[in-house]
Amino acid sequence: MASSRDKSVIAIYPGSFDPVTNGHLDLIARGAMIFDRLIVAVACNVEKEPLFDVKERIEIIEAVTFDWKNVEVDSFEGLLVDFARERSANVILRGIRAVSDYEYELQMAMMNRKIEPQIETVFMLPGEAYSYLSSRLVKELARFRGLPKGLVPPLVEERLKTKFR
Ligand code: PNS
Repeated sequence: MASSRDKSVIAIYPGSFDPVTNGHLDLIARGAMIFDRLIVAVACNVEKEPLFDVKERIEIIEAVTFDWKNVEVDSFEGLLVDFARERSANVILRGIRAVSDYEYELQMAMMNRKIEPQIETVFMLPGEAYSYLSSRLVKELARFRGLPKGLVPPLVEERLKTKFR
């Protein structure tokens, strides 16, 4: 008899990833350890004026996650739960850095549950070194002053330098 543990757990890790940071990578590493497959899903059309276009964001994430064989990268338009269904995913993975993230994440998770009860949102905490890190702050620092070490992968650092040269 098949038990519910016999089915593989496919998780979607959605986000803007404009650009991907070491905080995102920390979460991907944690997700890749516990889920059978992890699909990093770049959301199209969330920000009106992204710094990196979707193709570039996918290319960067693919390069920096190359070593995780159960991680793949894709993009989606429209509702996240529709994409999750399309990809047969049963979990949405989101990171919570601080209490300030909680309210927005709760709202999103509850609404996603309302429209798609079969898909469970799972929250994970990134390492504390990344608890204050965001793509928005990374872009601001890179634009005006340059980035301190250790916040983004070297490839992202390079691409940011090119953008703001
Ligand atoms: O990295 P972000 O910007 O915090 O990611 C937010 C994202 C892309 C996960 C969220 O905006 C999203 O899921 N957008 C897709 C549209 C959608 O499904 N909206 C309904 C959520 S209840």
